[in-house]
Amino acid sequence: MELNIALLHGDGIGPEVIDQAVKVSNAIAQKFNHKINWNPALTGADAIDKAGDPYPDKTHEICLKSDAILFGAIGHPKYDNDPGAKIRPEQGLLKMRKKLGLFANIRPTFTFPSLINKSPLKKERIEGTDLIFVRELTSGIYFGESGRKDRGNIAFDTCTYSRKEIIRLAKKGFELAMKRSKKLCCVDKANVLESSRLWRETVQSMEKDYPKVNVSYEFVDAVAMRLIQWPNSYDVLITNNLFGDILTDEASVISGSMGLMPSASIGNKTSLFEPIHGSYPEAAGKNIANPLATILSAAMMFEDAFALKKEAQLIRNIVNKSLKAMIVTEDLSNGEKSYSTSEVGDWLVNQI
Ligand code: IPM
Ligand code: MN
Repeated sequence: MELNIALLHGDGIGPEVIDQAVKVSNAIAQKFNHKINWNPALTGADAIDKAGDPYPDKTHEICLKSDAILFGAIGHPKYDNDPGAKIRPEQGLLKMRKKLGLFANIRPTFTFPSLINKSPLKKERIEGTDLIFVRELTSGIYFGESGRKDRGNIAFDTCTYSRKEIIRLAKKGFELAMKRSKKLCCVDKANVLESSRLWRETVQSMEKDYPKVNVSYEFVDAVAMRLIQWPNSYDVLITNNLFGDILTDEASVISGSMGLMPSASIGNKTSLFEPIHGSYPEAAGKNIANPLATILSAAMMFEDAFALKKEAQLIRNIVNKSLKAMIVTEDLSNGEKSYSTSEVGDWLVNQI
């Protein structure tokens, strides 16, 4: 099969971890007789420097023409402490999500038996954790009306949702729940927020279409707590853009390292696959970042965008093998011998 993939390295550790995912994907393609055409394009601070726009039109064109997008990370510290910056790398990410219609962000959290002691949580609490957040990604407070009043002394951001937006997101959640343990949790703040009440009302009205799915409704503050108390009590969770942003960072460390969790952003057409860890500028260029989240994102890409299950499974198997053999970067090495980003990539390629 011929796979046309847009390749967005982005900023920080993005380029290094993407390089490893490309190596592993190429090895997979060779083994299973596929041909991958990588279409590189600019994003983030890198794109601001080179093209004056964090998501240039040229990049959008390349994404639209591709069957899938593999993305590293966006963000640069020179913008973080400059609230007055007119153009910010993150705007590129938001623009990309919006223009590509990537309305659902699928973020799994699972544990690796060989890493169970790396988690900040107690083993008996997290064993068997295997949950998926479906985060709304192109609306809500991230895209609502915002601005300043009173000569700049009052600022506001608005969280707006339409029934239509909630339905299309919740549908993804229900469908995923049907394929898994048929348990769905709608995370909201319906005791306070009107937009959350619309979420709850809408999801309730969809229950009759999925009679086998057991739906629970929980407030976001309670979920934040229960997520670290009993993460294995959850399966599929649906939530809005901001709640999802916060809860998925919280959930990501359950596995032991943020450097392990992949994600997919899906919508009407081309899907995007990316590690959830972000640009980690402190580690950029040092060849120390954990490439596994990106490599596992490539596995998600093979399975979800191209229906290549065996290919995805082989990637997951060798990643598990590398963890058992402790061929890991320093975030996972327990002070023992650690391997560089590219050494981990090379080891995986060798296994394939
Ligand atoms: C994420 C990131 C982004 C978000 C930032 C970089 C805009 O934190 O993908 O979770 O808030 O969505
Ligand atoms: Mn985030």
